[in-house]
Amino acid sequence: MCIRQLAVIGAGQMGSGITQIMAEQGKKVFLQDVDKSRVLMGIRRIEENLSRDVAKGRKTEQEKEAVLSRIRPVTDLDGIRDAEFVIEAATENPEIKRTIFRQLDQLTDEETVLTTNTSSISITKLAAATGRPGKVAGMHFFNPVPVMKLVEVIRGMATEDRTFRIVKSLAEEVQKVPVEVRDFPGFAANRILIPMINEAIYCVYEGVTSPESIDQVMKLGTNQPMGPLALADLIGLDTCLSIMEVLHEGYGDTKYRPCPLLKKYVEAGWLGRKTGRGFYLYD
Ligand code: CAA
Repeated sequence: MCIRQLAVIGAGQMGSGITQIMAEQGKKVFLQDVDKSRVLMGIRRIEENLSRDVAKGRKTEQEKEAVLSRIRPVTDLDGIRDAEFVIEAATENPEIKRTIFRQLDQLTDEETVLTTNTSSISITKLAAATGRPGKVAGMHFFNPVPVMKLVEVIRGMATEDRTFRIVKSLAEEVQKVPVEVRDFPGFAANRILIPMINEAIYCVYEGVTSPESIDQVMKLGTNQPMGPLALADLIGLDTCLSIMEVLHEGYGDTKYRPCPLLKKYVEAGWLGRKTGRGFYLYD
C-alpha cells in the first residue's frame, strides 16, 4: 500500500521534521495544530532547513518550493479527513493524546492507520481510545528528524500485522531504518538513553563535576556526537522528566527515580534550547 497523503498532528519540533521528510518524498501532508501561529512556525522551520539544503547545493530552489507546496497547513482536525495515514506528534500528555485519537477515529476512514510519535506513552492505551486498536501503532522518530535514521515501530497489544507492515514500509520509503519494538515503558531507545541523561544530571547535582566536563567526558571518552546534557537541552528537559516519570511509574523500580535537579530545572521553566536556557544558555 503506497501512502499518497497523510496527516501530521502537532507542528512542533518533531511534527515539523516528520512533515518535512514526508513532503520531500513526494507525499502531500496536512500539518495540523490548534494554533495557527504554531503551524506557521513549523512551516518556517521546514523552510529554513530546505533553504540550508539549497545553500549547500543539495536542492534547487524549485525543489524546495515543490516540497513546500505539498504541505497544507490546517488548524481544525476536521481538515485532515482525507488522510490515508496519520502520525500524531502533539504534546506529550496522555489525556490530550487520547482525546485526539478518539477524534481521529471518528473523522478518518475506518481503514486509515493511526500512529503516534509518543516518546513513552503506552500505545495500547492510546489504541484503546479508538474503535480500531488493530490499526494503531507507534512510529517513534528521533530528533533532529531529517538527520536521525532510526524509527522505532511499536506494536501495541492489538496491533495487526498488516498495520505493522504499512508503518514499516512507510518508514523505509522515507529512508529511515525501522526497528520493531514491543510496547513497554520507554520502548527501547528512551529506556536506555534517558536514564543515562538522568545519571549525568545526578553527577551535576552531587557535584561530581560541571555540565561542560560531563559532556566532554562522554564525547571524548565514549564517542557520543554530543554530551548527555547538551542532548537533554536538545530533547527538552520537560520531555526527559516526563519519560523518567513514565519509567519510574511503569517499572516501579527506584533506579528510574528522576533527579531532583531535573525537576527543579523544569519547575524554573529552564527546559533547554526551546526556552533559551537549560544546562546551557542559547540565543
Ligand atoms: N534539522 C535538519 N538538519 C539538521 C538539524 C536539524 N534540526 N540539525 C543539524 N542538522 C544537520 C546539519 O545541517 C548538518 O548537515 P550537513 O553535514 O549535511 O551539512 C548535520 O546535521 C550536522 O550538523 P552540524 O554540523 O550543525 O552539527 P553536528 O555535526 O554536531 O550534528 C547533530 C548535530 C546531528 C544533532 C549531532 O550532534 C547528533 O547526532 N546528536 C545526537 C542527537 C540524538 O541523539 N538525537 C536523539 C535524541 S532522543 C529522541 O529524539 C527521542 C525521544 O523520544 C526523546
